[in-house]
Amino acid sequence: MAELLTENLGVNAEGHLTIGGADTLSLAAEYGTPLYVMDEQEIRKNLRRFHESIDKHYGGRGLVCYAGKAFTCLEMCRIVASEGDGLDAVSMGELYTAVKAGFPMEKVGFHGNNKTDEELHYAIEHGVGHIIVDNLSELRRLEAIAAEMGAVPHIMLRIKPGIDAHTHQFIMTGQIDSKFGFALETGEAFEAVKESISCENVKLVGVHCHIGSQIFDISPFEAAAGVMLDFIAKVRDELGYEIPGLNLGGGFGIKYLSTDDPKPLEAYMERVSAVVKEKCSEHGLAQPYIYLEPGRSVAASAGITLYTVGARKEIPGIRTYISVDGGMTDNPRYILYQSEYEAVAAARAGEERTEKVTIAGRCCESGDLIGENMPIQHVDSGDIIAVLATGAYNYSMSSNYNRVMKPAVVFVNNAEARLGVRRETPEDIIRNDV
Ligand code: LLP
Repeated sequence: MAELLTENLGVNAEGHLTIGGADTLSLAAEYGTPLYVMDEQEIRKNLRRFHESIDKHYGGRGLVCYAGKAFTCLEMCRIVASEGDGLDAVSMGELYTAVKAGFPMEKVGFHGNNKTDEELHYAIEHGVGHIIVDNLSELRRLEAIAAEMGAVPHIMLRIKPGIDAHTHQFIMTGQIDSKFGFALETGEAFEAVKESISCENVKLVGVHCHIGSQIFDISPFEAAAGVMLDFIAKVRDELGYEIPGLNLGGGFGIKYLSTDDPKPLEAYMERVSAVVKEKCSEHGLAQPYIYLEPGRSVAASAGITLYTVGARKEIPGIRTYISVDGGMTDNPRYILYQSEYEAVAAARAGEERTEKVTIAGRCCESGDLIGENMPIQHVDSGDIIAVLATGAYNYSMSSNYNRVMKPAVVFVNNAEARLGVRRETPEDIIRNDV
């Protein structure tokens, strides 16, 4: 029996793969393929894991700001809003989506290492909760724009805490080479705080750090929280200003393969809040309001992608290619990062996966693969296959390469399906052509 990764996936009496109780073959028949399917209950469950652990371990003094870059659309914004959670947005497009969905903008954090004046203006105009400032030129532009608008937006400063979580044993020394944020070691972050608190038209309400993505270990997060609180204490001691908010970013790892073993999401806040409390009592600081920005860990396990198999090409002694009707245009994560996924034949999901194949996309690019050496049941032309855990950074990173039309996104909720994003049409492809 194939490893189905999460409890929201199942096999029904006909042997078909189900997601959120809905039969994937029926979804494919009704909506066509390729098709992204998102399970609403799984999204809600993942969000609750975070906000309930803030309640349990930190007295509810925090806000989960779902990182929309993982996956967003109007319906996703509505789901996040209805859970009472916030949003991390990084562009005019994401802000606009939130506004149009009626998202409570005071719960939105606006990120980006190169925000335009137009975006800053738009963010202030729509009352975003906080703007996470990345660099001094942005701080100065923001101050000028806010003054012109007669506003005092709340800001956080994005700090590089000097932790590289992507090594076997994370490194805590040395400045990480990153385009994002102010470095701690060089004094750059301290200078940025100094300048921020001297500004009349912005109010510094927090410091932010994000140490990476798909991180399995909790200790780099604990270390980052510790470093940030030491910095808050230093600012209080030397500048007499106590920064009230601490944004710890996202980056929590998820299970893509049956062999992956991420820590339960609840464990994160349990351990990190212990560090926060300890550091606060050590420095005599008030415990800060905490923000988390999980993206992948909310959306990935909620999504699967359904494809129809076209050609099956066996190259004796070399490999078997299974070509599908999508590929790098709907999932560029293999060609970008050689990310691995599990796949199953939707009609025989309960059966053992007896073959190892290369799943190839339809684009004119040899690297256009969904994966190599993927275990799967025997499949041939016309079969539907499901690639699992595609809910994050698939739809959001999709493209129109080869003028391929983007798939639809369907939400399922307790076996009921509804359209979230329509499938693109040829008219969409030429919509902006003149
Ligand atoms: N907050 C900030 C400031 C971030 O830069 C990110 C992700 C997140 C939160 C959310 O991180 P998550 O919880 O999703 O790991 N395209 C890549 C992932 C890029 C992540 C960029 N920043 C991928 O497909 O793996």
